[in-house]
Order: sequence, then structure tokens, then C-alpha cells
Amino acid sequence: MAPFVPRVEGFDGLRDKVLVITGGANGIGAATVRLFHDHGALVVFGDTAVGAGQALSSSLGDRATFVSTDVTDYAANVTLFKTAFQKYGKIDHAVSCAGIMVPGADWFDDLSIESVEQPLPDIVLDVNLKAVAYFARVAVAYLKHRGDSVGGDSAKSLTFTSSDMIFCNTRRVPLYQVRSALGQAEKLPLNESPGLTYPKTSKSGVLTLARTLSTTSLSQHGVRVNTLLPNMTATQMWAPLLGLWHEQKLPVNQPEDLARFFAGLAMDEKAHGLAIAVTGGEGWDIEAGLRETMPTWCGPERAEALLAVGRLMG
Ligand SMILES: NC(=O)c1ccc[n+]([C@@H]2O[C@H](COP(=O)([O-])OP(=O)(O)OC[C@H]3O[C@@H](n4cnc5c(N)ncnc54)[C@H](O)[C@@H]3O)[C@@H](O)[C@H]2O)c1
Repeated sequence: MAPFVPRVEGFDGLRDKVLVITGGANGIGAATVRLFHDHGALVVFGDTAVGAGQALSSSLGDRATFVSTDVTDYAANVTLFKTAFQKYGKIDHAVSCAGIMVPGADWFDDLSIESVEQPLPDIVLDVNLKAVAYFARVAVAYLKHRGDSVGGDSAKSLTFTSSDMIFCNTRRVPLYQVRSALGQAEKLPLNESPGLTYPKTSKSGVLTLARTLSTTSLSQHGVRVNTLLPNMTATQMWAPLLGLWHEQKLPVNQPEDLARFFAGLAMDEKAHGLAIAVTGGEGWDIEAGLRETMPTWCGPERAEALLAVGRLMG
């Protein structure tokens, strides 16, 4: 087990740093916007929730800029970074936080050779994975660009938001549990439960994207790449399930906990290639755990072979 405690003493490392973040109007993203702003950073944040975004930016003043942004639109990602760059001449940190969880039909429900002819919408993959790749591509270009940036060799960071649910092998959130947690007894058919196949697939893809980027030459440009994998966090996204979590006495993160981890990863110049699972406000580096236990989960000889392949492929 590799606990990770964000080193955020005084948050001094955030002063005058430029943060670009998506999903900044609500929940974890909004808490991160506030924390960076309150400790002297210059924040440019995008979201589709225009009302909430504008309200947050007005409450913070002119060091926080909201840009109406739909991350599924490649050009909108470019505009978001361009706005920050034109305003401040540099980007120090980029955080991809926008995400969705859509209850309803799962792609693999009730399949027959007749029903399979109707495609289902793939908005979850679009927002949670494809758009994250868009964001990452634009972020890499701006983070590598020196502009008038000052700071050490590893001063810049790109941080992704995955989910530790990807390691929990359940395909659904049974809605009857949600209802019963809300004090309503009825059970709903399985196909009315929020399907998790797509959200989990998308969030697994995000982790793989981050892991891959962390092995590229980005670090030569002083850009560190990390991932946060929140467990249940008290935001609007999972609000209907919170009662169940409390009833079962399961740990719950507050959005501010995640904001502290985003800040810690941005400021810690040694933090690179980490995948931090956060539960009940505490963090563990899954990458370190995977490395340490490799001989256990794939056998000692295979572990050696996999490591050799890794060295060979760079
Ligand atoms: N809350 C949890 O328990 C939990 C657990 C694991 C992972 N996460 C992840 O954390 C991140 C933040 O989630 P949250 O809990 O704060 O939820 P939230 O719903 O409070 O915030 C998500 C934000 O993303 C924005 N958004 C959605 N689609 C967008 C789009 N196309 N373009 C731009 N913005 C868009 C929403 O408007 C919202 O402001 C998400 O990526 C989510 O998947 C949350």
C-alpha cells in the first residue's frame, strides 16, 4: 500500500500560477477553482453550465475567468486555452475534470438481433473519454510552450480525473438501492438502473491515456502527468446514492478533498506518473501498488518479462 498525502503547506506554490480546468462550474471542479483562486492562482475554467460558471467567476473576481465550453467540441478546448494564454502569456497547470454520469439504458441491455439495429447515444464516451483526449492534446501544446513562464524544470502539470470504480467489478448501480436509500421501498427493473459499462469504460480509458502520456517525452518539457481516481464524492453527480453510502457507513469525499489533491499534484515537482485513488479524503498511489505487487498479480517470471518489454519500448 502506498499512501499519498498531498504536500500543500500554505499552498504557496499556487501563487500566480495559471490553471486551466474543465468542469469548473460545479462539484469537484468548482472546489478546485476556488482553492487555486483563494491561494493566488489565476484560473480559467470551462463548463457547459453557463449560469453556475458565471456566478462562480463573478463571486471570485477578475482572477477567475469563466469560458462557456463544451469539451466535446475540439475548437472549444482550443478557445479555452487560447483565452488563458492571451490573458496571462502562459499555462502552468491543466486539469481535466468535466464528466458525466447518465442513468438509463446500458448499451448491452436486452440485446436481440432486432434491437441491436438501433444504436444508443454515446455521449458518455464523448464527454468522459474523447473530449478528455481533445483537452489533453491542446493542453500538451500549451504546457510545452514556454511563453513567459518561469519556474523549475518540473513546474508544469496535466492532471486527469478517472474513478476508482474502474477497479470495482459491478456493471450497474441498482436503482432500487438508490430508492431504498431514499426511504422508498420499491424495486425497479434492472434495465432502469444506471448502467456503468460505459462510464467505467470511459474512465478506464482516461487512466490509460494518462499512463501513456506520462511515459512520453512530455517530462523533458517539464510537464508532469498524473491522475486522480475519486471514490464517492458528495456532488450533484452521485447525490441520489449518498444516502446509501451514509447508511452503509462507507467513506465519502468532500469536493474540497479532491481540490486539495489537485493542488498537491500541481505543486509537488516529484509527482509524475501517479494514479491517486481518493476515498474518505485519503489517497493511495495505485501505480506504486501495481509496481510493488507485480510479481504477485502476474507471477515473478512474467513480471520480469513485462518490465523488460517496458524497457525495450521505452
Ligand atoms: N462525484 C463522484 O463521486 C465522482 C467519483 C469518481 C469520479 N468523478 C469524476 O469527477 C469529475 C467531477 O465530477 P463531480 O462529481 O464534480 O460532478 P458534477 O456533476 O458536480 O460536475 C461535473 C461538471 O462537468 C460539467 N460538464 C459536463 N459535461 C460537460 C461538457 N460536455 N463540457 C464541459 N463541461 C461539462 C458539468 O456541467 C459539471 O459542472 C467527473 O469527471 C466525474 O466523472 C466523480
